[in-house]
Amino acid sequence: MTLLFTLLALTSCSVLGNDKSLPEAPTSTHNSSYVKPPYAPQITNQVTWSSGRSDLKILAMTFDDGPHPQNTPRLLDMLKQRGIKATFFTIGRSVDLYPAIAKRIVDEGHEIGNHTYTHGNLSKMSERGVRKELDKGKEAILRATGVLPRIMRPPYGALYNNQRQWVLDAYGYPTILWSVDPMDWKDRNASIVSNRLISRASPGGILLAHDLHKTTVDAMPTTFDTLLAQGYKFVTVSQLIRLTSQAQQ
Ligand code: NI
Repeated sequence: MTLLFTLLALTSCSVLGNDKSLPEAPTSTHNSSYVKPPYAPQITNQVTWSSGRSDLKILAMTFDDGPHPQNTPRLLDMLKQRGIKATFFTIGRSVDLYPAIAKRIVDEGHEIGNHTYTHGNLSKMSERGVRKELDKGKEAILRATGVLPRIMRPPYGALYNNQRQWVLDAYGYPTILWSVDPMDWKDRNASIVSNRLISRASPGGILLAHDLHKTTVDAMPTTFDTLLAQGYKFVTVSQLIRLTSQAQQ
C-alpha cells in the first residue's frame, strides 16, 4: 500500500511539473494508470482545410518555415503596426534555434502551428516517422512558448488522405492547406509576390507565404495595406475554422 502510494505520488508530481500552464484534461483523477498528456482541445472534425466561409470578408495569412532570426521579427513588427493576427507554421528545429522569436509570435497574439521538426516529406514516411516529426515539432513549440499547436501543415502539402485522418485522430490536428500560393519560394521578388496574393485573395481564403525569405517579408506591407483597404479582416486559422464551423451549424 505504501509502495503504491509512493508510486502514485511520484507519477503525479512529474506529470504536474511538466504542464502546469495547460488546461485540465477531461478525465478522472481516480484512474491511477492514466498519465495526463499535454492537452489541447480539438477544434474541428473536418480533416482538411484549404479555405473557410466565403460570405465573410476574412482572410487567414499564414507564414511557413520560420522562425528566421531577421525576417520573422521584421514581419512581427509589420503585423503589430497594423493590428493584424497571422498564423505561423514553424519548423521545430528552427524553434529550438530561436525560441525567443517563437515566444514573441505567441505573446503577440498570433497562432502557431506544427510544421514538423525537420521539414521532411511526411507522405514518404512510416507512421512512426510521422509521429516522430510531429511529436518533436510539438515539443519544441511547447518548450519555447508554453502552448500547444492545434493545427498542422504538412511540408510541401504532402500528406495522403489516410494519413490526414490518422493525424486528426491521433493529435487532433486538422491538415491546413491554402487557397492562394504566390510561389514566393521560387520567385524572390516582392512585387510579384504581393501582386499574386492581392489578385488571388477571396473571402475565406487561406494565403500561403514563407517568412524565411526577405523578399516575402518585403512584399507584406503593400499586401496587408491593399487587402485592408479592400475591407478584408485578417484572422488566425483557428478563428477562420471556428467562424466557418459556426456558420455550418
Ligand atoms: Ni514548409
